[in-house]
Amino acid sequence: MGNNIVFIGFMGSGKTSVGRRVAQRLGFQFVDTDAVIVDRTGLPIVEIFSRHGEEWFREQETGVLRSLAVLNRAVVSTGGGIVLRAENRELLRDLGLVVWLTASEEKLFQRVSRNKKRPLLQTADPRATLHALLEKRSALYAEAAEFTLDSSSLTHEAAALAVIAEAGRAFSW
Ligand code: S3P
Repeated sequence: MGNNIVFIGFMGSGKTSVGRRVAQRLGFQFVDTDAVIVDRTGLPIVEIFSRHGEEWFREQETGVLRSLAVLNRAVVSTGGGIVLRAENRELLRDLGLVVWLTASEEKLFQRVSRNKKRPLLQTADPRATLHALLEKRSALYAEAAEFTLDSSSLTHEAAALAVIAEAGRAFSW
């Protein structure tokens, strides 16, 4: 297992905000897989989905994950669907400590309904879509993760500190 910290979880769980804080506090490099995809393709996520479709996006996602195998002492935050592929779940575990950031369905909905940058939730009934995606994915997050943290009532700072404490145990710092 590598010595990186990897955040997985549903859209709106706070992976990027908490991940950035953890990286800052530890002096680790921070990598956001969605940002790498946007850089590589030169397209925003919504446009990737509308032009090329979800499967193409998933292919980019796996490509990015494979390329991260060289990382050492980094914090990686991932897109909410990264756990869908079995290959990805294995690649995640190889990278290091996998942290599943969860939040109540209510909290997630509040957070995601604030922005329109998530193509999978641009449906007639985003609430029902979120519920269905959560149902489908929860077992996959659980399978991939070694540490689960419910961020519903935590500040980003408190969540970051809890993850750093867990990483200290996992890596015996
Ligand atoms: C997705 C989540 C998004 C982004 C894409 C697909 C998903 O990332 O990767 O829109 O399938 O849940 P965030 O979880 O950072 O919003």
